[in-house]
Amino acid sequence: MRVVLGLLLLLLGLCGSGAQGERGGLGEVGDINEFQETAPSNAGEESTERTTKQTTPDIWAEVRELRDMVVELKVYVAMLQRENSDLQTRLSSTERELLVSKSRIDQLERENAVQATELRSLETRLTATESKTSDLEKENADLQTRLSSTETELLVSKSRIEQLERENAEKPKVAFYTALTDAGYVGPHNTDTTLKYSKVFTNIGNAYNPATGFFTAPVKGVYYLQFTVCGNHTGLMGVFVFKNNQKIMFNVEWKEAKLYKYFTKSVVLELIAGDTIHLVLPSTYSVYDDGDNHSTFSGSLLFPL
Ligand SMILES: *[C@@H]1O[C@H](CO)[C@@H](O)[C@H](O)[C@H]1NC(C)=O
Ligand SMILES: *[C@@H]1O[C@H](CO)[C@@H](O)[C@H](O)[C@H]1NC(C)=O
Repeated sequence: MRVVLGLLLLLLGLCGSGAQGERGGLGEVGDINEFQETAPSNAGEESTERTTKQTTPDIWAEVRELRDMVVELKVYVAMLQRENSDLQTRLSSTERELLVSKSRIDQLERENAVQATELRSLETRLTATESKTSDLEKENADLQTRLSSTETELLVSKSRIEQLERENAEKPKVAFYTALTDAGYVGPHNTDTTLKYSKVFTNIGNAYNPATGFFTAPVKGVYYLQFTVCGNHTGLMGVFVFKNNQKIMFNVEWKEAKLYKYFTKSVVLELIAGDTIHLVLPSTYSVYDDGDNHSTFSGSLLFPL
């Protein structure tokens, strides 16, 4: 393009210099016409001839010059046409690219709008989440406080439980349950006879001795003792209760001539370690037991003292 402009300027420069120069270029053609038209009105023929002789070779030179210029201009026009065609090609290609760019810009703008919407929505959600997070943090702090308080309470409880378990483990356990015999009638005898309850079903702490019929308190405490006497002979039925070989209770019943008779008695006694309890069948009395466990003796430690 610069080359073209340069050439154009050069040509214009040439034309200008011709017009301004001393009798040359296109200006001289005008002058020639003017001369020819005005010639008849000129006064002196001699001066006219002289002028014509001087002008004629200049006209041919001018014509050649003009022909050259025309050739140059044709070349220039052809070049301009090529450039024009090139420029049109580039223009339409640029326009296509522009369309593509515009479409791309539209698409990007749409995407941008969508992203802006999403961004706003995300910001809203972020705000909500932050608020929720701070709520949760507060709740968490509360829960941690409660947890540590609960843990402290748990430790105290565990320590208390361990203490109670130790106390419980150390606490003596005493309980027994026995029945007299499978042999049927015991008695009547001529003397008072210690009843040896021989069927031992429960004997936690081994405080009851079936070989002697004696219960021995292992620790100081309050004991609950109970016995059931069954009789089947017509007549007196009963037992003495002995504590440390001292009679502390006598229970007696009259049995009619009917099938089996029972009575049950119980005592709550404060005993010290080593105190004994046993039951004695009075002379002339009898009790009855068999596989059905009619006559029993049982007891347990309620609590130590
Ligand atoms: C119990 O006494 C009744 C009535 O006297 C008698 O019929 C029954 O045979 C007695 N039972 C035993 C096992 O002796
Ligand atoms: C007598 O007591 C023992 C121990 O509890 C039991 O195994 C047995 O079955 C009892 N006898 C009857 C007839 O209930």
